[in-house]
Amino acid sequence: MDKFVIQGGTKLQGTINISGAKNGSLALMPATLLAPGTYHLRNTPNLRDVWTMSRLMGSLGAFCELNDNELFLDTRNINNFEAPYEHVKKMRASFYVLGPLVARYGMAKVSLPGGCAWGPRPVDLHLKGLEKLGAEIDLSSGYVLAKADKLIGSKIHFDISSVGATGNVLMAAVLAKGNTLITNAALEPEITALARMLVKMGAKIDGIGTSQLEIEGVDSLKPVDEETIPDRIEAATFLIAAAMTQGKIQLNKTNPYHLSSVIAKLEESGAEIDVNSDVITLEMNEKPKATDIVTAVYPGIPTDIQAQWTAYMLMADGSSKITDNIYRDRFKHVPELIRLGANIDIIDNSAIVSGVNMLKGAQVMSSDLRGSVSLVLGALVADGTSEIYRIYHLDRGYEELEKKLNNLGANIKRVKTDII
Ligand code: EPZ
Repeated sequence: MDKFVIQGGTKLQGTINISGAKNGSLALMPATLLAPGTYHLRNTPNLRDVWTMSRLMGSLGAFCELNDNELFLDTRNINNFEAPYEHVKKMRASFYVLGPLVARYGMAKVSLPGGCAWGPRPVDLHLKGLEKLGAEIDLSSGYVLAKADKLIGSKIHFDISSVGATGNVLMAAVLAKGNTLITNAALEPEITALARMLVKMGAKIDGIGTSQLEIEGVDSLKPVDEETIPDRIEAATFLIAAAMTQGKIQLNKTNPYHLSSVIAKLEESGAEIDVNSDVITLEMNEKPKATDIVTAVYPGIPTDIQAQWTAYMLMADGSSKITDNIYRDRFKHVPELIRLGANIDIIDNSAIVSGVNMLKGAQVMSSDLRGSVSLVLGALVADGTSEIYRIYHLDRGYEELEKKLNNLGANIKRVKTDII
């Protein structure tokens, strides 16, 4: 196991490149199951979750190889249609293979994802959508068994806007017979990027980028090469980190358009931000103003930056309210931030954060990906040394995090430890 040893008190200053989007790659990879062939997915981040998805795809018969952020896939020999618990329990996104397998091969056996560190994460919308397309769905011993001779287009409305359910059902509908209308579809950029890749593969999809997707099923698709979009959550994390340390950074290879709500909130908190093509610069010369956020589906404030914003508001003068309407119980990072000296109360699905004069270094434990990075942010501004355990959570979603932060002036060491 690894831990981070972080000396706090440094400003972040300098320039880094943002990596490809984890949640973008995790949607594009299963899409390659829809058309046997070879694919190059460029700008694929070198992350644990990508390795997990590659291993899962490999167990289905695909060949996956990642070199210098270019992922080569060969899906001409898919010969297994089961996504076992060992993969799905590690990463909920494994569930994304369900739709493509049923659409292309007429069958799939996929383990139900468990909960995660912060609570239950159901898949009812995925299953209802596939049933509407004519799939026969059974649940047995923790697995979803799905079968369909041929999926038939249908009208599907999502009561809740769901990234994963939209992706799964979209990947199934493109090979269904007839037309499908998905309403209240997720607008997240990763879903828009998935739809665009499917169209490049020969799918017929109208309404891309809107909450209403109209799909005309086709008989077959063809393999393509594609580039993964920039990781908007990584970019937001670095912007918040720089603002917390009153530093000045430049992020290259971003898509600022995907960060409009986060940039607006950072400016509201007092950061000076400039956007020019794929470059975002941020400068912060004062303590942040206490600034409330309420998470929402895209283009609102993403739940995936809620923990980072909670850490940020510890530096503010006054009290901030941080409400998560997507995952009402995503606050496992709060007790660990309190170990660093934070003053936070949880009331229902909100964290009430009181700014503190100083955080003090401590030993803390990661519990989930974004919660872990909020502990890193806290340690960056804490007085003294912090140790962060279970940083394998971080390696799931941040490529070379300590290298990028140290290039900006942080003092982080990755150290082996027997403490888990
Ligand atoms: C995706 O998860 C992301 N993961 C998550 O990022 C992100 O937090 C989430 O979207 C919300 O933006 C990937 O893209 C791989 P949802 P997903 O279905 O698809 C409820 C990270 O840190 N829901 O949009 O699983 C659900 O409980 C990860 O990178 C149902 O009720 O999220 C939640 O309240 C964490 N039934 C809401 O919808 C369902 O069948 C949104 O979930 C599905 C979802």
